[in-house]
Amino acid sequence: RMSGPCGMVMFGITGDLARKKLLPAIYDLANRGLLHPAFALTGFARRDWGRESFVAFVEEQIREHARTPFDQATFDHLAEGMRFVEGSFDDLDSFHKLADVVTELDEHFGTGGNHAFYLSIPPDWFGPVCENLAKSGLVNDDAPEGIRESGAWRRVVIEKPFGHDLASAIELNETIRKVFPEDSIFRIDHYLGKETVQNILAMRFANSIWEPLWSSHYVDHVQITMAETIGIGSRAGYYDGIGAARDVIQNHLLQLLALTALEEPINFSAAALHTEKEKVLASVTLPSDLSAHTARGRYAAGRQAGELVTAYVDEEGVPDDSTTETYAAMRVDINTRRWAGVPFYLRTGKRLGKRVTEIALVFKHNAHMPFDNTDVPEQAQNALVIRIQPDEGVTIRFGSKVPGTAMQIRDVTMDFDYGEAFTENSPEAYERLILDVLRGDAPLFPRQSEVELSWKILDPVVKHWAKQGPPEDYRPGLWGPDSADLMLANDGRTWRIP
Ligand code: BG6
Repeated sequence: RMSGPCGMVMFGITGDLARKKLLPAIYDLANRGLLHPAFALTGFARRDWGRESFVAFVEEQIREHARTPFDQATFDHLAEGMRFVEGSFDDLDSFHKLADVVTELDEHFGTGGNHAFYLSIPPDWFGPVCENLAKSGLVNDDAPEGIRESGAWRRVVIEKPFGHDLASAIELNETIRKVFPEDSIFRIDHYLGKETVQNILAMRFANSIWEPLWSSHYVDHVQITMAETIGIGSRAGYYDGIGAARDVIQNHLLQLLALTALEEPINFSAAALHTEKEKVLASVTLPSDLSAHTARGRYAAGRQAGELVTAYVDEEGVPDDSTTETYAAMRVDINTRRWAGVPFYLRTGKRLGKRVTEIALVFKHNAHMPFDNTDVPEQAQNALVIRIQPDEGVTIRFGSKVPGTAMQIRDVTMDFDYGEAFTENSPEAYERLILDVLRGDAPLFPRQSEVELSWKILDPVVKHWAKQGPPEDYRPGLWGPDSADLMLANDGRTWRIP
């Protein structure tokens, strides 16, 4: 379904995210015919650009980063709806100029009073920008009668970090809520825009074979892994002081956990889905001994895929006395009838052995093996692995007889592979999310209560780590610090090597 007529005002247009993801996603949506012909894009930045420079800038990003081929006619049409406002986030006058542009779009371009404000900017600026949007009349529209159609909307889109702990997340939200009501706030967690993440729900609730296995009756534990090979690149300014746990466990990994563990929602409306996710997040508890059940590390210098890489502490912009972790792992438990006694292990890190995100349900050992022990030397546990990326699919791991005269068992896999099963391409996460913002579809956007529940889970862990000095070094290209292995060994388990 195509968006309706509307405009998007983008703040932070020259940032990495806007250049590499947001602008290309908008173009890809247009190219796929999913944007209404009256879709307008307004850039707001402190550059002395005119409209033409802005259009040229957007074209450059699209040519470099869009997924669909460049089509001149599509671009030219999109460009007709492009506007640029030079201004700074704390200057009310420039917001008045923006308001004039929005009015012009409504009167002459047909955007109908519908506008989304995308804040791809550091959270410290959310407050001043929202305030200026309100003061310049951009939130409570007073467009002349007949221009603003009934039911016209104003929405705000924000990107994480949503605070750095529970208290700051509440404070940040209060700032935004002064101007926008909760149902007009779209919080982006781009993992929820990924095809394979949405497929968790399809897999679980469109089929009958998994659900009977999906509980403590059969599942021994769950491992959720988000491993990256990249370092922090030029993001020290954002990353240092934040670290792996706040950067991705608080949002992406806890969202994956919620989707894996939730009960069947009564339908797929935003409200029903949030209700079920919240129930999971509210039932999460931490182990009492955090030293034994969490791990953190930071990458040392070394070789990764044959290349020399710098230690985290020597990356540009990282202070010498940094205590930020680039690897984080933790065990959580979910106190519900379905999951009691099934630990969920979460881990994430940069400069690890492989770029991979997956959710593995590891099943209990067979209660009895009717074979001679010597014939089943290395049968591992059955596992169901949801491969989120980059090799999208699902794997089932089970024991099978090795051909031959003896009854020997070895692990084999059964694979579902997106690339083979579908000819359709997966859209970029941001395409789906931007389209949903424009259509007002909210299921894929975390609600404030989810953000707060996630911080409640994480805060004690981060506090515990803060008392411990710098994290343990780990070698690039492997699977994290020794303490991560120890953490699972303490429970008599091991991490999977994806
Ligand atoms: C972001 C984190 O949210 O997700 C980054 O801030 C991380 O540190 C990125 O690299 C990974 O996203 P993806 O989609 O490449 O897995």
